[in-house]
This record gives sequence, structure tokens and C-alpha cells, in this order.
Amino acid sequence: MQIWNDYQQANQDRFLNELLDLLRIPSVSADSNYKADVARCAEAVKEHMLKAGCDKAEVCPTAGHPIVYGEKIIDPKLPTVLVYGHYDVQPPDPLDLWHSGPFDPVIKDGKIYARGACDDKGQMFMHIKALEVMVKTNSQPCNVKIMIEGEEEVGSTCLASFLEDNKERLKADIVLVSDTSMISMEHPSIESGLRGIAGLEVEVTGPVRDLHSGVYGGAVANPLNILCSMIASLHDENRHITIPGFYDRVQELSPAERKALNEAPFDIEAYKEELGIKEVCGEKGYTTLERTGIRPTLDLNGIWGGYQGEGSKTILPSKASAKITMRLVPDQRPHEIAELFKKHFESIAPDYVTVKVTLGHGGEPVVTPTDSPAYQAAAKALRTTFGKEPIPTRGGGSIPIIALFEKTLGLKTVLLGFGLDNDNIHSPNEKYDVVNYFKGIETIPYFHKYFTESTGK
Ligand code: BES
Ligand code: MN
Ligand code: MN
Repeated sequence: MQIWNDYQQANQDRFLNELLDLLRIPSVSADSNYKADVARCAEAVKEHMLKAGCDKAEVCPTAGHPIVYGEKIIDPKLPTVLVYGHYDVQPPDPLDLWHSGPFDPVIKDGKIYARGACDDKGQMFMHIKALEVMVKTNSQPCNVKIMIEGEEEVGSTCLASFLEDNKERLKADIVLVSDTSMISMEHPSIESGLRGIAGLEVEVTGPVRDLHSGVYGGAVANPLNILCSMIASLHDENRHITIPGFYDRVQELSPAERKALNEAPFDIEAYKEELGIKEVCGEKGYTTLERTGIRPTLDLNGIWGGYQGEGSKTILPSKASAKITMRLVPDQRPHEIAELFKKHFESIAPDYVTVKVTLGHGGEPVVTPTDSPAYQAAAKALRTTFGKEPIPTRGGGSIPIIALFEKTLGLKTVLLGFGLDNDNIHSPNEKYDVVNYFKGIETIPYFHKYFTESTGK
């Protein structure tokens, strides 16, 4: 719509500068040293909601980091879109690999470099700006509620109870989220599913203290060696996961579904080149798109023990530990999978060590049907602003709260993401293309319009 374009054009510099200001706040949820910054960021988000035209906006305290909630209700008879996003970010480490400060955003070659530029400040802020566009041009098609949380990157624990306690306030017809990727600006796409996740920590203990590796080496089990071989045994030579029962609930896709998934444009040579790898590696019998989209995984996220300092220290460490996450697909259940892991890991522990498995956060996998009116509205919105039919894809990442929107609030979700897989989210030099940011702001109002039209209200 011309009025939307005109308003956005006239305000585009401010839209960009406001995002840069938000990126300057280091809202790292995982690290308690940043607690005050996280709170400051929540306040800033609230102010932006009010400025965009929300009638009400509130910073809601929780046992953890606050949730920011705002709404602009224009007519209770019209449908309501509940927008969800997160203002917290991942820790910026390793700092020395950043070309510019993670919280000093710079624009280089049309890309905004900063922690959170794409995940998810840049993407959630598009919704606040899109709301401003609709409100200020008097053309908001439906009611909008916006909930931006501060704990997505640490598992959304407090948000789960917030949903329980605020069922009435959060009543809506659909949830709209921009926290995923699309293939490229040339190939707009919509993720029609996300993997679930089960996280845990393992600790292997051997002798009561670190031992001289010459005096005792060869006679006493080394927990680091043992941990490595136990972890290595979790995959077989085909890179299948060896935990009994792990695949029992995995839904196999039909040949037609797999064919469709593999028709998405994907250049494996460019993929390898960009990542600096000679070959891809994954479960035998599946393509790269399948390995990240529809197959479960088990990965070490960190492993430690023994001496990490400069030079050498010849010891058998007393303890060794690792952080592990498994990505899950329908119909695997995080809790059940974590229990299967625990049982198996304990069962393979040799007598000469003790093993402790501590279960961590979890999130269920989700699939969003592509034939729903909401998905179709998102597809039509992308068709309008990109002039192309968006491709349905399966995302490999996880957003644990999405399954709870359905369970607790009875709401389906549309994943209208504008990030790119190479935006370096969770990595040094995270970026978000300025054009993607503006394209998102341009596309979102059309979702509201087409979704409203589809409900016939
Ligand atoms: N936005 C991501 C998830 C994502 C990224 C989905 C790209 C699809 C494509 C989200 O912020 C995230 O990183 N989630 C965590 C969840 C975990 C901390 C429980 C993840 O996937 O590791
Ligand atoms: Mn995110
Ligand atoms: Mn993330």
C-alpha cells in the first residue's frame, strides 16, 4: 500500500538509528553480570512500543528477566495477532574474533554488525516499526498484541508460566514470529517447522584428585579419555545415534515430502566454501537439507577437564565434563529423549569411573501446516513484497516456547523470518542486512491485512 511505503520511506533513517541504539544495550541473558542491561533493554522496548502507538505497554517482572508486553486493540470484533520475539541475546564471546565491538553496531557493505542484529533484536524490532507504520497511517487491519521476552536464549522458563497466568490477556487468533531464516532475498521462504531440543550436562569422575600422569598413568582410568570414548560411542559409523529408542518416535517423511524439501535452492559448493570445510558430514542416507531440517542430532557444545592453561601439565584429571544438546524432530519428546540418554550413558560407564548426568532445558519440535489460512497470508505477504512465491523450508534451530503457544494458549504460529543462515547468529560478527530489515517492516503489515481478510471478520 502506498501510504505504508511513503511512511516507511519518510522515516527510514530513524527506523535504522533506533535499532542501532537498541543494539548498544548488551542484553545478555545467560550472564548475570548483564542483569541491569537486560532490564534497561526491557524498558527501552516498552518505550518503543508506546512510541509506535500501543495503548498499553508494560515491563512485566518475572523470577528471571522481564517480559515486555504491549497492545493496540482497535476493535474487539476484529482478529488479533500476537507477535512474539526476544530482546535478549547470546553472549558475545569469543570477543577477539569480532571485527568491531559486539555492542558498538557498525554498518558495513549494507550490513548491520552487532550481537542481536539478526537474533532477535533486528527481527523483533521490525514488528514494532511495522506497528508504527500501520498506526500512524491509520490503517491497522486488526488488533495487535506484542510480547517480547528476555530469556529465549536461556530456555524461556519464566515465559512458560507467564502464558499460564495470562491466558486471557494473550487471547489471539494467531502467533506471528520473526526469529528464523529465509533462503535469500532472491528466494524468499517460510520455515514450516522447527526442531526441538534437549540439553544436558555430563560429568565423569575418576580418582579423588588430579594425579601425576607418569606416576599413575596407565594404571588408573583417565576421566577425560573415558568421557571421549563414551561420547564417541554415541554415533555409529553411519552417524546414526546409538542410544536405544532414540529414533522410535521419529516421523519419517514420505518420498514426495522429501523430494519437495530437496527442491529448495541449495548450493552445496558455496555452502562448503563459506564454512571453510572440504566435505559435509552427517547421517548416512540423508541430504544436507534433510540432516538439518528433519533429522535429529546429538552434539557436544563444550567439553572440559584437566589443564587448559599455558604450557603443559602432566596430570590425569580427576574429573571431565561436557555440555550436550540433541536437536529433536516430530514426534520426539525432549524429556523422554533426555531420560533415554541418561539411562544409556549411565549403562555404558565402565566400573572405574562414576558418571553423573544432569538434565537441562528442553523444547518440543513444531510443524506449522502450510495449508492454513495464516501460512497462506504470510505467503501472500511475501509474494506482494518480493514478487515471488515463497518456498516452504524446515528450520534446524529451536524456539522452545512455540510448542507452548499451542499447548497453553491453543494458538498456531507463523514463522515469518527474514534472517539468513549466514548471519552469524550465536557467532562472532553477527550481522543483519539493512535491506532485510526494511523488507521485513514492509512485509509485516501485509500479513496483518491478508490474515484479517482470510478470517472474513
Ligand atoms: N532464533 C533462534 C532459533 C532459530 C535460528 C530458528 C535460526 C531457526 C533458524 C533462537 O534464538 C535460538 O537460538 N534458540 C536456541 C534455543 C535454546 C537456547 C533453547 C537454539 O536453537 O539453540
Ligand atoms: Mn532467536
Ligand atoms: Mn538465538
